[in-house]
Amino acid sequence: MSSPVTSAFAPLSAPKGGVYVVFVGASLKLAPAAQKALVGAADLIAAAAKTASFRGKSLSSLDILAPSGVACERLLVIGVERDKDKKETDFAELGGYVIGKIGASKAATIAFFAPNGDWDAAGAADFMMGAHLRAYRFDKYKTKVKPEDKPTTLHLTIGVGDVAAAQIAAQARKAIVGGVELARDLVNEPPNVLFPVAFAARASELKKLGVQIDVLDEKAMAKLGMGSLLGVGQGSAKESRLVIMRWNGARNKKAKPVAFVGKGVCFDTGGISIKPAANMEDMKGDMAGAACVTGLMHALASRKAKVNAIGAIGLVENMPDGNAIRPGDILTSMSGQTIEIINTDAEGRLVLADVLWYVQDKYKPVFMIDLATLTGAILVALGAEQAGLFSNNDELAARLSEAGAATGEKVWRMPLGAPYDKIIDSKFADVKNAGGRHAGAITAAQFLQRFVNETPWAHLDIAGVGMASPSSEINQSWGSGWGVRLLDRLVADHYEK
Ligand code: BES
Ligand code: MN
Ligand code: ZN
Repeated sequence: MSSPVTSAFAPLSAPKGGVYVVFVGASLKLAPAAQKALVGAADLIAAAAKTASFRGKSLSSLDILAPSGVACERLLVIGVERDKDKKETDFAELGGYVIGKIGASKAATIAFFAPNGDWDAAGAADFMMGAHLRAYRFDKYKTKVKPEDKPTTLHLTIGVGDVAAAQIAAQARKAIVGGVELARDLVNEPPNVLFPVAFAARASELKKLGVQIDVLDEKAMAKLGMGSLLGVGQGSAKESRLVIMRWNGARNKKAKPVAFVGKGVCFDTGGISIKPAANMEDMKGDMAGAACVTGLMHALASRKAKVNAIGAIGLVENMPDGNAIRPGDILTSMSGQTIEIINTDAEGRLVLADVLWYVQDKYKPVFMIDLATLTGAILVALGAEQAGLFSNNDELAARLSEAGAATGEKVWRMPLGAPYDKIIDSKFADVKNAGGRHAGAITAAQFLQRFVNETPWAHLDIAGVGMASPSSEINQSWGSGWGVRLLDRLVADHYEK
């Protein structure tokens, strides 16, 4: 769903109607360009700031309605005095904040100049990105919105010093916005609409961007021996699918790809080990990992990233049924390893076991990163603030941590090791799919590690951040689209050639 904001960069003009946005620090001084466009407004701002005790603090604002002598409806003064604990201004966050303050207006001009004049094109592009991400909404199923409550499109004119440079910097950010919007849409869709075959159809639309798509149906997966993934789907009336998305953007078309793997449980009832009724509707978001991978592939293809990348998503529905898997069942995975089912609600790892094995076997990737709303235990450990990061490779883990700090999609590394791995040894099979309450997020990761061979691998447990996380300046949506910006950044910083 597209956001109700359109934006364009332009040379800064003087106010003519709408909202006019300027930035100040503690001194309340305007940038020279803004001052020129707003002759006489400095005294007005100083007087209003005094009455409102506005001190130009970062993410605070002063809203002057019908400012006398200035030709606009509102003069919105935004504080950008740096927080002590922040190294640099987060322009995406600033863009989101400004959109929140503009509210229902139809037109706004942003005087995108630092009080001391040092903002660059990258900052302007991030600002634009944050504005669009903030404005996202998912209201396609609301039929009774009153006309006066219908969102009006806001036309945003971002006045900058170097228009061409801002436009160039914005190209990649627009691709990222498109990817995040797609991921959010997929997570927000109801499970009767977005079942595995429907998800596969949505992912197949990436063909338009030059992404190659292979959809494996149940027969194809059975032939490959994917008894673990297929076991999860066997209780559902909906068929399972495995979708492989391939973007070949590297100069060397034969270069080894990077690979992203997503858990796509379109609905997780828990199966025979059924979940309690309270909040079960949230389990429509149990495909947030697959949504992120699809959004990421969308972003990489849209900005023509110079990388060969694979996106693989295992799409299933976990239902209780006469044909569903039972606790005690033993499944044979594509790797040949047998898995004893202890709890049918530990289904995500069963899906990923076959997808991870298939991807490393078939594509021999540089690395595999999987994203999965895998465990409630990661919420206990980290809340909704950061994703859990598990990895067998220190370099990959460090790069993910850096990209997390840079984008604000933070990851926290958790331990792996033999003592944890032992917990999931099975009495009857090679491995069991649940290890008990203690270290639940870690034993889930240990399970996955048994299916990655020697491939450099990282697992992101996004159960806390993928959906229902607290809203932020750049996200007000239930499905957050978490991970698209993180992984796009990882690729851009290290893997484009
Ligand atoms: N999809 C859930 C994990 C989840 C919980 C995601 C809350 C988002 C919010 C997963 O399939 C699951 O049910 N995990 C179990 C594993 C247990 C049975 C070993 C869990 O975390 O309780
Ligand atoms: Mn489950
Ligand atoms: Zn699940």
